[in-house]
This record gives sequence, C-alpha cells and structure tokens, in this order.
Amino acid sequence: MIKGSTDIYAVIGDPVEHSLSPLMQNYLIKLFDLDAVYAACHVRSKDLKTALAGLQALNIKGINVTLPHKIKVRAFCRTVSKDVETLGAANTITPDETGLCADVTDHAGFLESLGDRQSLFRGNAVCMLGAGGAARSILYALSQLEVDRVSIYNRTRENAEQLIREAAQSFGFTSAESVAQSELNRTIESSSIVINTTSVGMHPHIEATLCGDDAPFSRRHFVYDLIYNPLQTRLLRTAKSKGAFVQNGLDMLIFQGLQSLRIWTGQNLQADAGATKRM
Ligand code: ATR
Repeated sequence: MIKGSTDIYAVIGDPVEHSLSPLMQNYLIKLFDLDAVYAACHVRSKDLKTALAGLQALNIKGINVTLPHKIKVRAFCRTVSKDVETLGAANTITPDETGLCADVTDHAGFLESLGDRQSLFRGNAVCMLGAGGAARSILYALSQLEVDRVSIYNRTRENAEQLIREAAQSFGFTSAESVAQSELNRTIESSSIVINTTSVGMHPHIEATLCGDDAPFSRRHFVYDLIYNPLQTRLLRTAKSKGAFVQNGLDMLIFQGLQSLRIWTGQNLQADAGATKRM
C-alpha cells in the first residue's frame, strides 16, 4: 500500500509507456517487502535537465534512465561510477544531499543472469551479433569472464570495428575481431557461445533472425538472445531445435533492475532463479 512514508522510484525515457520496468520493479519491491513504489515518467530530451534537478527536491530515491537519455544524463551527475566512465552511459541515478550519482547495471545484470553458466565462458570463443549500446555492455561483461575471443558480426561492419577499438581503449579488451556475414556460419561453428545483442527478432518482427535456419548450432552451443519479447525468438527456436542450450533476455532485465534496487536501498537483495520465474 502506498503511504506517506513510501519511497518513490521511477524510470524516465521517451517513449516510456511500453517499459517493463514498473512491472518488474514493483514485483521486486513486493518480493522484498519494501515500502516503495515504482512509476514511469515520460521525460522529453528538452526537459531532462529540469526533471533531474527536481529529483532531490521531491525526495525521489532513485531513477532508471532509458533511451534516449542514457548518455546525456551523465552531464548532470556529480559523481559517475567507474563503469559509467568506461561505458559512457548510465541507467541508474541516485540523488543524495550533494547531487546525483550515476551507475550502470546492464553488464552486472548480464553476468548475474548467467548464474553457474559463467564458467562456460572461460577460455571459450564467443560469437556476438551486433555492435550498439547493448553490445558494448556485453563486451565489457565478457572481458571480465576471461573468454578466449569474441567475434563480432554486425550489419554495418565499420560499427563493429569502432566498438572493437573502443573496447581496447576504454577497458583494455583486445581479443575481439569483426567478421563478415559470409563468415558467420564458420564463426558459429568455431564458437561455443552465441549472443544476440540486436533488436532483430523482437516484437513485432518476430520472424526476423540474423542466423538462417541453416546455422550450424549443435548440442555444444549456448545461445543467448537479449530479447525478452517474444520470450523465444526465431534464433532461439532454431538453436534449440538443433540441441543448443538457450537463454532469453528476461533474467538480464530482472537482474539489472535488481542491481539498481540494491544501489538505491543499500541492501544486498538476493533473488533466486525461481523468484524470477514466478513473475
Ligand atoms: P542498443 O542500444 O539496443 O544496442 P543500438 O545502439 O541502436 O541499440 O544498436 C542496435 C544494433 O542492432 C546495431 O548493432 C545494429 O546494427 P547497425 O550497426 O548496422 O545499425 C543492429 N540492428 C538493428 N536493426 C538491424 C537489422 N534490421 N538488421 C541487422 N542489424 C540490425
């Protein structure tokens, strides 16, 4: 129940109506029995500065930031975490008496979503699809998992090359290469893990996929699609039908949100896989 003492959290973005964050965060708030509520605020770029300036005044305890504000928001924060500095984007803002603190939780959400499967990555080859903002966070996470190498296929190869240069510069990861579409099947064959970071296959274009039905997936592959709508993309369906172990993006969404909640509350909140499946 919302009371006078209830802490207020929100996600800001433009658009924000379709965000799953309120559903997910209010579920977590209930799960952990917190006296809090989480809403969505439609904030246009021209109003970002004013909206952020009002957070402390309104005693709002924390906000998540989604597109298109994830990069711009840094400029209005007094402190930014090392991860925000490295990745250049923030998704979690915490007001305190002296200003706003910026964090980013995407890579931590990805790592936590892997659970025991983190050990599959050490020393193994990864094929990553995409080279946008999500790919950057995943590459950062992969750099912490001691993978052997990451081969990146992206529609615009130059964007993959750019990401590879930035990864070397900002977090010292030098084991990435870009591959052409003609090399994709060969790359999948020689990788143990395939990760889709693009929006290809997302609702409403659910039959789209970057790997054809002839992609050489097998029992020794782990295929992770960051998409959670639909829960089973065509990519995952194809991979699963060939015996691969598959994972969708729902747990990453939940764990990056949980990480925000930990930052805001200062509590080491723990959700097991069962808890996320009951959502
Ligand atoms: P995000 O922050 O979610 O990663 P983004 O930065 O816009 O979003 O990146 C989107 C990624 O999906 C990019 O790698 C993009 O490829 P390009 O660099 O060629 O634009 C990829 N992507 C989006 N739509 C695509 C499509 N229809 N076919 C192939 N790749 C696509």
